[in-house]
Amino acid sequence: MEEQDKQPTILIIHGPNLNMLGKREPEIYGKKTLEEIDALLKARGESLGCFVETFQSNHEGGIVEKIQQSSNRIAGLIINPAAFTHTSIAIRDAIMLLDVPVIEIHLSNIYQREPFRHKSMISDVVTGQITGFGDYGYLMALDFLARTP
Ligand code: DQA
Repeated sequence: MEEQDKQPTILIIHGPNLNMLGKREPEIYGKKTLEEIDALLKARGESLGCFVETFQSNHEGGIVEKIQQSSNRIAGLIINPAAFTHTSIAIRDAIMLLDVPVIEIHLSNIYQREPFRHKSMISDVVTGQITGFGDYGYLMALDFLARTP
């Protein structure tokens, strides 16, 4: 039996342009690459007794399909929809298929930025939102989900 079959799976979805972390506006999003963040999350997951699966897409439909395909096998979702946060009814509708806790996360504090970033299409359908704590926000979300029965 694979390790991930025994442990609850927490899915982490990163939206568009987050594959460019490290290079992309590091003064806003930090210096770590996405690979480094994912490695930290997988290691933390191991110490918390859960399997961390990560997924990045620059495409709205790819994110919708990933959520649909994962709906009956995950124990929780952490999602940074990036720019789709502010526009995507499709991702919102996909999240509503889930009956597990969902944490919305943003590296930057979206409420301290341009007015078009203040609106999240998903904030009222997720369990909670973490915004402005950099990559540490992902660990906060994972800690919460790992402690949620
Ligand atoms: C972001 C904030 C969004 O407004 C932006 O489009 C992103 C990243 C964040 O993590 O701070 O790409 O979700």
